[in-house]
Amino acid sequence: MVIKKVTDYEELSKKGAQFIAAQIIMKPNCVLGLATGGSPVGTYQRLIKAYQDGSISFKDITSVNLDEYKGLDGTHPQSYRYFMNTNLFDHVDIIKENTYLPDGLEPDSEKACTDYEAIIDGVGGIDLQLLGLGHNGHIGFNEPNTVFEKNTHCVELTQSTIDANTRYFNSSDEVPRQAYTMGYRGILSAKKILVLVSGSAKASILAQVVNGPITPEVPASILQLHPDVTIIADAEAAALL
Ligand code: F6R
Repeated sequence: MVIKKVTDYEELSKKGAQFIAAQIIMKPNCVLGLATGGSPVGTYQRLIKAYQDGSISFKDITSVNLDEYKGLDGTHPQSYRYFMNTNLFDHVDIIKENTYLPDGLEPDSEKACTDYEAIIDGVGGIDLQLLGLGHNGHIGFNEPNTVFEKNTHCVELTQSTIDANTRYFNSSDEVPRQAYTMGYRGILSAKKILVLVSGSAKASILAQVVNGPITPEVPASILQLHPDVTIIADAEAAALL
């Protein structure tokens, strides 16, 4: 693991965008694994600027996102499809048909997950997977568990995740209780992984992820086994490293 400590969220976003832009320049038709949440927003804003000033193009990029709430369709403002459209896709030249998320409207969980596995395989492998880190160590919606779930699956969100995501809804009752998420196979098969971690609330879990035992109780600890992981952490998040 390479850990880059930066001063604050601004610098984290700048470095995150440089990292992804370098990947796009090296391989203009690469497959990007993307994440939602607060951590990558500043990075996406800088990638949009890089597109606008002509430094990069997304026209040959394919993207596969980590997860989607079950039961929300892409026009729901809290769906991850809506997040990706408004925070990145609508502002760059990516071809929307080449952007994939699990189908939140598919009520049959088994079908939704099997279909997404076929999509992950169909894109021919992820070149760079971007991740945020949940307060409980989750990556995607892979919550603390007794096993590392290999494939895309339907998860019951933990209370910690419902609490963390309530800020985006009118109340905690509105937060969906289930989500479809890529499993560890999809994430770990990426050639490169970039993790963005910001804020003091993540300091303790980040220390466990980096220095603790590899256990499904701290899902991101499995990243210790991947040969090419870069973590960009701001000073508050990196305080216990
Ligand atoms: C988002 C995702 C989640 C977030 C994590 C951190 O697609 O899969 O694992 O990356 O919950 O969220 P933020 O960045 O909001 O702290």
